[in-house]
Amino acid sequence: MWVAEAGEKVSAIGRRMQFFEVIERRQSVRAFASRELEPEKLSALLEAVRLAPSAGDCQAYEIVVVQEPSGKAALAEAAYGQEFVARAPVVLAFVADPGRNVEKYGDRGASLYCVQDATIAAAYAQLATTALGLASCWVGAFDERRVAAALKASGSFRPVALMPIGYAAETPMRPPRRSLGEIVRSETFDRAAKG
Ligand SMILES: Cc1cc2nc3c(=O)[nH]c(=O)nc-3n(C[C@H](O)[C@H](O)[C@H](O)COP(=O)(O)O)c2cc1C
Repeated sequence: MWVAEAGEKVSAIGRRMQFFEVIERRQSVRAFASRELEPEKLSALLEAVRLAPSAGDCQAYEIVVVQEPSGKAALAEAAYGQEFVARAPVVLAFVADPGRNVEKYGDRGASLYCVQDATIAAAYAQLATTALGLASCWVGAFDERRVAAALKASGSFRPVALMPIGYAAETPMRPPRRSLGEIVRSETFDRAAKG
């Protein structure tokens, strides 16, 4: 249905609606079917991520694709025992690389932009999984040093997000969101300034 439509030519409005459908359908899934992930879906996902913006186009991040059971188990352990990480067919690790932008942007690049680059890449990946009919969960609660060790990432590399990906074996409840009235301010933080 909507996944099959992804390859079809649609009007500009149709394309836009499809994007918002992806946004609406994405949910954190923590139970995965035993079905393997097709390599062509993984490639399509990674290609989508490659198009993500980054500060100064430095693309200051790396992605580690972890599929070996021992590697996934090490990541699950480093994520304080979040076992569902190990049960996904694929885990992507998004790792910031300060070495790629420190020369151009100094401390702001090394401490912030590379983390933002990796975060944006992970956000693209998560939406792409949904668009491909897959499911995922962003995992940020982990011991950075243990994740880096599991990935054999030495030096200044900084793991930012883990993302187990596979086919959903659950339909989670939708957690609530704050209202726009709560989140969005007009012009400044000073609400009293209004009217
Ligand atoms: C930065 C970040 C860190 C997160 N870390 C974890 C995590 O360690 N474990 C987990 O199960 N979910 C984690 N999540 C998923 C959130 O719990 C989830 O996005 C949130 O509850 C909203 O649910 P939804 O994604 O289904 O809309 C994380 C999400 C983000 C953005």
